[in-house]
Formats: sequence, structure tokens, C-alpha cells
Amino acid sequence: MKDPVELLDELKARIDPERVPGHVAIIMDGNGRWAKQHGEHRIVGHANGVRSVREALTGAREIGVKHLTLYAFSTENWNRPESEVNALMDLLVKTVVDELAELHANSVRLKAIGDLESLPDTCRDTLKDASRRTAGNDRITLTLALSYSARWELTEMARRIAVKAKAGELDPASIDESTVSANLCTAGTPDPELLIRTSGELRISNFLLWQIAYAELWFTPVLWPDFRKEHLFNAVLDYQSRERRFGKTSEQIVPR
Ligand code: FPP
Repeated sequence: MKDPVELLDELKARIDPERVPGHVAIIMDGNGRWAKQHGEHRIVGHANGVRSVREALTGAREIGVKHLTLYAFSTENWNRPESEVNALMDLLVKTVVDELAELHANSVRLKAIGDLESLPDTCRDTLKDASRRTAGNDRITLTLALSYSARWELTEMARRIAVKAKAGELDPASIDESTVSANLCTAGTPDPELLIRTSGELRISNFLLWQIAYAELWFTPVLWPDFRKEHLFNAVLDYQSRERRFGKTSEQIVPR
């Protein structure tokens, strides 16, 4: 019987390096259910999810993904019990502080998107500091979506464009798709080509609605704390087996 390391290497070797998605986005879900299954408090599920973040990041980096965006805390998550919200914010700060040197050593650039002003001061300051320190890294960009929802982002975008138009900096007639993209939190980042959601839920839950217009979707029943590199590699292999037509016919994509 082959050992797990060998099996993982074989899986990785099957990935075509020429067709690795440049941007992978993940809806990390199932921490609470994982904790329940293990007879633990929900926060233990979140704490165990940190290892999965590490696996997803190192796996993505190894195969050449340039952008990894993780949905870490949605606008709607503020409605959770205060104790869980506080524990999640503390976990986030601790993780970023603990991992910063390692991220830097591996040329990872850290970014945060969302309504960052609504985060507790320590959380916002830690993220700002980590983003500033890693700004020169270019192997992979890890973007954490925090206090984020796509409807919030799209509303902000509309407001920004309206302000510029009112100030005479922008002609409304010139507004096109690129204007919209340039006024989102993800401005300058290519759209995700692959969106992964764990825990068996088949929803997008207000994540990157504009940006995933043409993303391939990959769902797995695996709960986030159990997510490992092998799951990421399987998602990428599945992505590579799909024909991305962008509205064209199959014959236009692969002339027969
Ligand atoms: C969803 O599971 C998970 C979250 C809302 C939080 C994700 C946070 C982490 C993995 C912690 C560390 C993150 C970083 C980026 C360092 P859920 O609680 O909705 O699970 P459930 O649907 O089973 O209840």
C-alpha cells in the first residue's frame, strides 16, 4: 500500500502546470458541524480550521496559484452569539500574529477585504500591519474576506462611482464593466477561476457575486477542518477536466 505522501505527490503530478487557476476562492464552511461531531464547542471547530487554511495556502502555493481568497467572516456572521464572534476575532488576530514570519518567509502577500472599519481595533490594526509588511511579496496573495458580503461591496461600488460622477471626475456615459471592477474591493485582482465550498452546502452565500461570473464551482461534503491539500488538488484536477466556453460553442473552443 502506498503511503499518503506518495499518493499526494501522485495527485499533484497529474495537475497540468499550464492550466492552474490563477485565482482560487474558498467558502470555508462546516466548522460548527465538525465541532458538534467531535463533541466540542463551535470555536474548537474554528480553531481546527486554521490547519486547513495552512493546507489550502501551501497547496495553492506549491501548484502555482497566484491568488487565494478565503471567506473568513461574512457581514451576516455578526449575527452570531457575541462569544463566538469575539472568539473568532481573537483567533484571527492570534493566527495572523503567529503565522506572519512564516507567511513572509514563503513570499505570501496578505490582504484583507470587506468592511474593515467594522472590525475590532486590534483585528483591523493587525491586518493592516501584516498587509503592509508583506506588501512586497509576490509568490501568492492570500486575501481574507472579513465582514464581507458581495451586496455590501456592490453597494459601496455604486456609492463610489456616484460620488466620482457627482464630482465631475467620471462621465456616467463612460461607465462600463471595467469601471465596476475597478471600484470593487478586489480591484486589480483577476477574477476567481475556481470557487470551492466545503460542507456540502450548495450556495454562494453573498460571496464575490460579480467576480465569479465565469468561475467553475466545486462543492465537497468535507467539513472545513478536514480540508487538506488532496481536496484542493482534486478540485484543481476537476477544474482542468472542464471545458470553459465563456458563452461560445464547444467547436469554437476546440476546433474539430
Ligand atoms: C464557517 O463554518 C466558518 C467560519 C464562519 C469561520 C472561518 C474561520 C476560520 C477557519 C478561522 C481562522 C481563519 C483564518 C483566515 C486564519 P460555520 O461556523 O458556519 O460552520 P457550520 O455551518 O457547520 O455551523
